[in-house]
Amino acid sequence: MKMSKVLMTGAIGLVSLGLAACGGGGSSSGSGSADAGSGATKVFKLAFNQTDQHPQYAAGVELGKRLEEVTDGRYSVKVYPNEQLGGQADVIQNLSNGTVELMWVGGPVLEGFNKDFVVFNLPYVFDSVDAQLAVLSDQEALDPLFTSIEDSKQITVLAGVNAGVRNVYNSKHAVRTPEDLNGLKIRVQQSDSQVRMIELMGAVASPMNNGETYSAMQTGVLDGAENNEVTWDALKHSEVAKYYSYTRHLIIPDYLLMSTKALDAMSQEDQAALMELLPEIQKIANDGFAAFTQESIDHATSIGAQFNDDVDVAAFKARVQPLVDESVNENDVRKGLYDLIQQANAANPAK
Ligand code: GCU
Repeated sequence: MKMSKVLMTGAIGLVSLGLAACGGGGSSSGSGSADAGSGATKVFKLAFNQTDQHPQYAAGVELGKRLEEVTDGRYSVKVYPNEQLGGQADVIQNLSNGTVELMWVGGPVLEGFNKDFVVFNLPYVFDSVDAQLAVLSDQEALDPLFTSIEDSKQITVLAGVNAGVRNVYNSKHAVRTPEDLNGLKIRVQQSDSQVRMIELMGAVASPMNNGETYSAMQTGVLDGAENNEVTWDALKHSEVAKYYSYTRHLIIPDYLLMSTKALDAMSQEDQAALMELLPEIQKIANDGFAAFTQESIDHATSIGAQFNDDVDVAAFKARVQPLVDESVNENDVRKGLYDLIQQANAANPAK
Protein backbone atom coordinates (compact mmCIF):
# COMPACT_ATOMS: atom_id res chain seq x y z
CA MET A 1 0.00 0.00 0.00
CA LYS A 2 1.38 3.41 -0.83
CA MET A 3 2.03 5.82 1.95
CA SER A 4 -0.93 7.98 2.77
CA LYS A 5 -0.60 11.58 1.68
CA VAL A 6 -2.55 12.72 4.67
CA LEU A 7 -0.52 10.83 7.24
CA MET A 8 2.84 11.43 5.63
CA THR A 9 2.69 15.09 6.61
CA GLY A 10 3.92 14.19 10.06
CA ALA A 11 7.00 12.61 8.52
CA ILE A 12 7.77 15.56 6.29
CA GLY A 13 7.86 18.00 9.13
CA LEU A 14 6.06 20.87 10.60
CA VAL A 15 6.26 23.13 7.61
CA SER A 16 3.74 25.61 8.81
CA LEU A 17 4.05 25.30 12.54
CA GLY A 18 2.24 28.09 14.27
CA LEU A 19 -0.15 28.69 11.44
CA ALA A 20 -3.20 27.58 13.36
CA ALA A 21 -2.32 30.07 16.03
CA CYS A 22 -2.20 33.00 13.64
CA GLY A 23 -5.17 31.98 11.54
CA GLY A 24 -7.91 32.14 14.12
CA GLY A 25 -9.74 35.13 12.70
CA GLY A 26 -13.28 35.12 11.42
CA SER A 27 -14.00 33.39 8.19
CA SER A 28 -14.40 35.58 5.17
CA SER A 29 -17.67 35.62 3.34
CA GLY A 30 -16.88 37.92 0.46
CA SER A 31 -16.88 37.14 -3.22
CA GLY A 32 -15.61 33.60 -2.84
CA SER A 33 -12.56 34.39 -4.86
CA ALA A 34 -9.37 34.26 -2.89
CA ASP A 35 -7.65 36.62 -5.26
CA ALA A 36 -4.88 34.91 -7.08
CA GLY A 37 -2.29 37.66 -6.72
CA SER A 38 0.77 36.90 -8.80
CA GLY A 39 0.42 35.27 -12.17
CA ALA A 40 2.24 32.20 -10.90
CA THR A 41 -0.53 31.24 -8.48
CA LYS A 42 -2.39 28.06 -9.30
CA VAL A 43 -6.02 28.62 -8.28
CA PHE A 44 -7.82 25.40 -7.38
CA LYS A 45 -11.49 25.31 -8.30
CA LEU A 46 -13.64 24.12 -5.38
CA ALA A 47 -17.08 22.91 -6.50
CA PHE A 48 -19.91 23.42 -4.01
CA ASN A 49 -23.61 22.68 -4.37
CA GLN A 50 -24.94 24.99 -1.64
CA THR A 51 -25.13 28.79 -1.27
CA ASP A 52 -22.43 31.25 -0.25
CA GLN A 53 -24.13 31.53 3.16
CA HIS A 54 -23.20 27.95 4.03
CA PRO A 55 -20.34 27.29 6.50
CA GLN A 56 -18.62 24.98 4.02
CA TYR A 57 -18.40 27.91 1.62
CA ALA A 58 -16.70 29.98 4.32
CA ALA A 59 -14.41 27.06 5.12
CA GLY A 60 -13.44 26.77 1.45
CA VAL A 61 -12.67 30.49 1.19
CA GLU A 62 -10.61 30.27 4.35
CA LEU A 63 -8.73 27.28 2.96
CA GLY A 64 -7.79 29.40 -0.05
CA LYS A 65 -6.55 32.30 2.07
CA ARG A 66 -4.45 30.11 4.28
CA LEU A 67 -3.12 27.95 1.48
CA GLU A 68 -1.93 31.06 -0.29
CA GLU A 69 -0.12 32.17 2.88
CA VAL A 70 1.60 28.89 3.61
CA THR A 71 2.68 28.23 0.03
CA ASP A 72 3.96 31.78 -0.53
CA GLY A 73 1.29 32.38 -3.12
CA ARG A 74 1.87 29.25 -5.17
CA TYR A 75 -1.66 27.92 -4.55
CA SER A 76 -5.05 29.34 -3.78
CA VAL A 77 -8.72 28.34 -3.98
CA LYS A 78 -11.80 29.78 -5.62
CA VAL A 79 -15.12 28.42 -4.39
CA TYR A 80 -17.96 27.99 -6.91
CA PRO A 81 -21.26 27.77 -4.98
CA ASN A 82 -24.80 26.89 -6.16
CA GLU A 83 -23.80 23.96 -8.38
CA GLN A 84 -22.12 26.43 -10.78
CA LEU A 85 -19.75 23.63 -11.78
CA GLY A 86 -22.51 21.01 -11.80
CA GLY A 87 -24.37 18.73 -9.41
CA GLN A 88 -22.28 16.53 -7.12
CA ALA A 89 -22.75 13.29 -9.04
CA ASP A 90 -21.54 14.98 -12.25
CA VAL A 91 -18.79 17.22 -10.98
CA ILE A 92 -17.09 14.37 -9.18
CA GLN A 93 -16.18 13.00 -12.62
CA ASN A 94 -14.32 16.24 -13.32
CA LEU A 95 -12.45 15.78 -10.08
CA SER A 96 -11.46 12.35 -11.24
CA ASN A 97 -10.06 13.68 -14.51
CA GLY A 98 -8.42 16.66 -12.80
CA THR A 99 -10.32 19.54 -14.43
CA VAL A 100 -11.78 20.46 -11.03
CA GLU A 101 -9.35 20.19 -8.12
CA LEU A 102 -11.53 20.32 -4.99
CA MET A 103 -15.14 19.72 -4.00
CA TRP A 104 -17.45 19.24 -1.06
CA VAL A 105 -19.52 16.11 -1.50
CA GLY A 106 -22.28 14.32 0.40
CA GLY A 107 -21.19 10.91 1.70
CA PRO A 108 -23.52 8.73 -0.40
CA VAL A 109 -22.00 9.90 -3.69
CA LEU A 110 -18.75 8.11 -2.76
CA GLU A 111 -20.55 4.78 -2.48
CA GLY A 112 -20.45 4.73 -6.28
CA PHE A 113 -16.64 4.47 -6.09
CA ASN A 114 -16.12 2.33 -3.00
CA LYS A 115 -19.19 0.82 -1.40
CA ASP A 116 -17.50 0.62 2.01
CA PHE A 117 -18.23 4.34 2.48
CA VAL A 118 -21.81 3.21 3.07
CA VAL A 119 -21.19 2.51 6.76
CA PHE A 120 -21.22 6.22 7.61
CA ASN A 121 -24.36 6.81 5.53
CA LEU A 122 -26.65 4.33 7.24
CA PRO A 123 -29.72 5.39 9.19
CA TYR A 124 -29.47 5.67 12.97
CA VAL A 125 -25.88 4.35 13.22
CA PHE A 126 -24.54 7.44 14.98
CA ASP A 127 -26.09 8.21 18.36
CA SER A 128 -25.00 11.85 18.31
CA VAL A 129 -23.22 14.48 16.27
CA ASP A 130 -20.37 14.31 18.78
CA ALA A 131 -19.97 10.60 18.07
CA GLN A 132 -19.74 11.37 14.37
CA LEU A 133 -17.21 14.14 15.00
CA ALA A 134 -15.11 11.77 17.10
CA VAL A 135 -14.98 9.26 14.24
CA LEU A 136 -14.27 11.93 11.63
CA SER A 137 -11.32 13.24 13.62
CA ASP A 138 -9.68 9.81 13.81
CA GLN A 139 -7.53 10.38 10.75
CA GLU A 140 -5.45 7.26 11.28
CA ALA A 141 -8.40 4.89 11.44
CA LEU A 142 -10.01 6.53 8.41
CA ASP A 143 -6.90 6.67 6.30
CA PRO A 144 -7.33 3.35 4.43
CA LEU A 145 -10.87 4.36 3.47
CA PHE A 146 -9.92 7.93 2.57
CA THR A 147 -7.11 6.81 0.25
CA SER A 148 -8.98 3.81 -1.18
CA ILE A 149 -10.08 5.55 -4.38
CA GLU A 150 -6.79 7.26 -5.24
CA ASP A 151 -5.62 4.58 -7.66
CA SER A 152 -8.97 3.73 -9.18
CA LYS A 153 -10.52 7.21 -9.37
CA GLN A 154 -7.72 9.68 -8.74
CA ILE A 155 -9.64 11.12 -5.81
CA THR A 156 -8.22 11.75 -2.33
CA VAL A 157 -10.57 12.31 0.59
CA LEU A 158 -8.99 15.12 2.60
CA ALA A 159 -11.45 15.39 5.49
CA GLY A 160 -14.96 14.56 6.66
CA VAL A 161 -17.21 17.10 8.35
CA ASN A 162 -20.57 17.14 10.05
CA ALA A 163 -23.50 17.94 7.77
CA GLY A 164 -26.19 18.10 10.39
CA VAL A 165 -28.95 15.68 11.21
CA ARG A 166 -31.35 14.79 8.41
CA ASN A 167 -35.12 14.72 8.71
CA VAL A 168 -37.99 14.30 6.26
CA TYR A 169 -40.07 17.18 4.94
CA ASN A 170 -42.91 17.46 2.47
CA SER A 171 -45.67 19.66 1.13
CA LYS A 172 -48.58 17.56 2.44
CA HIS A 173 -48.57 16.92 6.17
CA ALA A 174 -46.50 16.23 9.28
CA VAL A 175 -44.92 12.77 9.45
CA ARG A 176 -45.23 10.84 12.70
CA THR A 177 -45.08 7.19 11.64
CA PRO A 178 -43.84 5.21 8.60
CA GLU A 179 -47.48 5.01 7.46
CA ASP A 180 -47.51 8.80 7.08
CA LEU A 181 -44.87 8.47 4.36
CA ASN A 182 -46.98 6.03 2.41
CA GLY A 183 -47.21 7.06 -1.25
CA LEU A 184 -45.13 10.22 -0.80
CA LYS A 185 -42.42 10.71 -3.41
CA ILE A 186 -39.28 11.77 -1.59
CA ARG A 187 -35.97 12.92 -3.05
CA VAL A 188 -32.82 11.20 -1.72
CA GLN A 189 -29.11 11.49 -2.50
CA GLN A 190 -27.86 9.34 -5.35
CA SER A 191 -26.95 5.95 -3.92
CA ASP A 192 -28.51 2.53 -3.42
CA SER A 193 -28.36 2.87 0.36
CA GLN A 194 -30.37 6.10 0.33
CA VAL A 195 -32.99 4.70 -2.03
CA ARG A 196 -33.44 1.60 0.06
CA MET A 197 -33.50 3.59 3.27
CA ILE A 198 -36.39 5.84 2.27
CA GLU A 199 -38.31 2.91 0.80
CA LEU A 200 -37.98 1.00 4.09
CA MET A 201 -39.11 4.15 5.89
CA GLY A 202 -42.32 3.96 3.85
CA ALA A 203 -41.94 6.43 0.96
CA VAL A 204 -41.31 6.27 -2.78
CA ALA A 205 -37.66 7.10 -3.54
CA SER A 206 -36.51 9.61 -6.12
CA PRO A 207 -32.71 10.03 -6.29
CA MET A 208 -31.54 13.29 -7.89
CA ASN A 209 -29.10 16.18 -7.55
CA ASN A 210 -29.91 18.53 -4.72
CA GLY A 211 -30.22 21.50 -7.09
CA GLU A 212 -33.13 19.92 -8.98
CA THR A 213 -35.20 19.29 -5.87
CA TYR A 214 -36.82 22.72 -5.44
CA SER A 215 -38.47 22.86 -8.84
CA ALA A 216 -39.48 19.20 -8.64
CA MET A 217 -41.32 19.95 -5.40
CA GLN A 218 -42.74 23.20 -6.71
CA THR A 219 -44.23 21.50 -9.75
CA GLY A 220 -45.52 18.59 -7.68
CA VAL A 221 -43.26 15.98 -9.29
CA LEU A 222 -41.95 15.39 -5.79
CA ASP A 223 -43.82 15.57 -2.49
CA GLY A 224 -40.74 16.20 -0.43
CA ALA A 225 -37.17 15.31 0.45
CA GLU A 226 -34.99 14.66 3.47
CA ASN A 227 -32.18 16.90 4.62
CA ASN A 228 -30.79 19.03 7.42
CA GLU A 229 -32.53 22.32 8.30
CA VAL A 230 -29.74 24.34 6.70
CA THR A 231 -30.17 22.94 3.21
CA TRP A 232 -33.94 22.77 3.51
CA ASP A 233 -34.15 26.48 4.26
CA ALA A 234 -31.18 27.88 2.28
CA LEU A 235 -32.36 26.23 -0.93
CA LYS A 236 -35.89 27.53 -0.24
CA HIS A 237 -37.35 24.06 0.12
CA SER A 238 -38.98 25.42 3.28
CA GLU A 239 -41.20 27.57 1.05
CA VAL A 240 -42.64 24.68 -0.96
CA ALA A 241 -42.38 21.79 1.54
CA LYS A 242 -43.15 23.37 4.87
CA TYR A 243 -43.83 20.26 6.99
CA TYR A 244 -40.50 19.36 8.61
CA SER A 245 -40.62 16.26 10.83
CA TYR A 246 -37.85 15.13 13.17
CA THR A 247 -37.25 11.54 12.07
CA ARG A 248 -33.52 12.16 12.80
CA HIS A 249 -32.73 9.23 10.56
CA LEU A 250 -29.28 10.27 9.37
CA ILE A 251 -26.16 11.93 10.71
CA ILE A 252 -24.23 11.75 7.49
CA PRO A 253 -20.87 13.36 6.71
CA ASP A 254 -19.81 15.62 3.89
CA TYR A 255 -16.27 15.20 2.61
CA LEU A 256 -13.71 17.59 1.20
CA LEU A 257 -12.29 15.85 -1.85
CA MET A 258 -9.22 16.61 -3.91
CA SER A 259 -8.12 15.45 -7.30
CA THR A 260 -5.17 13.12 -6.63
CA LYS A 261 -3.54 14.40 -9.83
CA ALA A 262 -3.64 17.97 -8.52
CA LEU A 263 -2.28 16.85 -5.16
CA ASP A 264 0.54 14.88 -6.76
CA ALA A 265 1.50 17.92 -8.82
CA MET A 266 2.31 19.86 -5.62
CA SER A 267 5.73 19.57 -4.00
CA GLN A 268 5.86 17.38 -0.91
CA GLU A 269 6.33 20.48 1.23
CA ASP A 270 3.26 22.17 -0.24
CA GLN A 271 1.24 18.99 0.20
CA ALA A 272 2.30 18.84 3.84
CA ALA A 273 1.38 22.49 4.33
CA LEU A 274 -2.06 21.82 2.86
CA MET A 275 -2.63 18.80 5.09
CA GLU A 276 -1.72 20.76 8.20
CA LEU A 277 -4.47 23.24 7.42
CA LEU A 278 -7.18 20.61 7.36
CA PRO A 279 -8.08 20.21 11.06
CA GLU A 280 -8.73 23.94 11.30
CA ILE A 281 -10.77 23.99 8.09
CA GLN A 282 -12.76 21.02 9.39
CA LYS A 283 -13.42 22.96 12.60
CA ILE A 284 -14.60 26.08 10.74
CA ALA A 285 -17.08 23.98 8.77
CA ASN A 286 -18.32 22.11 11.86
CA ASP A 287 -18.65 25.11 14.16
CA GLY A 288 -20.38 27.18 11.51
CA PHE A 289 -22.86 24.40 10.91
CA ALA A 290 -24.32 24.40 14.40
CA ALA A 291 -24.86 28.17 14.36
CA PHE A 292 -26.36 28.17 10.87
CA THR A 293 -28.82 25.43 11.84
CA GLN A 294 -30.44 27.69 14.44
CA GLU A 295 -30.62 30.61 12.00
CA SER A 296 -32.27 28.33 9.45
CA ILE A 297 -34.89 27.15 11.93
CA ASP A 298 -35.65 30.75 12.89
CA HIS A 299 -35.97 31.86 9.29
CA ALA A 300 -38.15 28.91 8.26
CA THR A 301 -40.39 29.57 11.26
CA SER A 302 -40.79 33.20 10.20
CA ILE A 303 -42.10 32.16 6.78
CA GLY A 304 -44.64 29.74 8.22
CA ALA A 305 -42.86 26.38 8.22
CA GLN A 306 -44.27 23.74 10.57
CA PHE A 307 -42.00 21.61 12.74
CA ASN A 308 -43.12 18.28 14.13
CA ASP A 309 -41.12 16.60 16.86
CA ASP A 310 -43.77 14.02 17.71
CA VAL A 311 -42.21 11.21 15.67
CA ASP A 312 -42.20 7.47 16.35
CA VAL A 313 -38.45 7.14 15.88
CA ALA A 314 -38.45 3.57 17.19
CA ALA A 315 -40.78 2.53 14.37
CA PHE A 316 -38.55 4.08 11.71
CA LYS A 317 -35.48 2.51 13.32
CA ALA A 318 -37.03 -0.95 13.24
CA ARG A 319 -37.94 -0.54 9.57
CA VAL A 320 -34.41 0.31 8.45
CA GLN A 321 -32.55 -2.21 10.60
CA PRO A 322 -32.29 -4.81 7.78
CA LEU A 323 -30.42 -2.25 5.65
CA VAL A 324 -27.96 -1.60 8.47
CA ASP A 325 -27.37 -5.32 9.10
CA GLU A 326 -26.93 -6.22 5.42
CA SER A 327 -24.60 -3.33 4.74
CA VAL A 328 -22.37 -3.73 7.76
CA ASN A 329 -22.02 -7.50 7.62
CA GLU A 330 -20.86 -7.46 4.00
CA ASN A 331 -17.11 -7.49 4.85
CA ASP A 332 -14.52 -6.96 7.58
CA VAL A 333 -13.67 -3.40 6.56
CA ARG A 334 -17.26 -2.37 7.15
CA LYS A 335 -17.46 -4.29 10.42
CA GLY A 336 -14.31 -2.45 11.55
CA LEU A 337 -15.78 0.95 10.67
CA TYR A 338 -19.02 0.04 12.39
CA ASP A 339 -17.06 -0.92 15.54
CA LEU A 340 -15.39 2.46 15.42
CA ILE A 341 -18.81 4.08 15.40
CA GLN A 342 -19.93 1.97 18.35
CA GLN A 343 -16.91 3.03 20.39
CA ALA A 344 -17.63 6.66 19.57
CA ASN A 345 -21.31 6.18 20.48
CA ALA A 346 -20.37 4.74 23.87
CA ALA A 347 -18.22 7.79 24.59
CA ASN A 348 -20.73 10.28 23.11
CA PRO A 349 -24.28 9.13 23.86
CA ALA A 350 -27.34 10.96 22.63
CA LYS A 351 -28.19 13.92 24.87
C1 GCU B 1 -26.57 18.18 2.42
C2 GCU B 1 -25.13 17.98 2.24
C3 GCU B 1 -24.72 18.08 0.81
C4 GCU B 1 -25.59 17.21 -0.02
C5 GCU B 1 -27.01 17.51 0.19
C6 GCU B 1 -27.92 16.60 -0.61
O1 GCU B 1 -26.87 19.48 2.20
O2 GCU B 1 -24.41 18.93 3.02
O3 GCU B 1 -23.40 17.69 0.63
O4 GCU B 1 -25.32 17.37 -1.35
O5 GCU B 1 -27.32 17.38 1.53
O6 GCU B 1 -28.89 16.13 -0.07
O7 GCU B 1 -27.63 16.36 -1.78
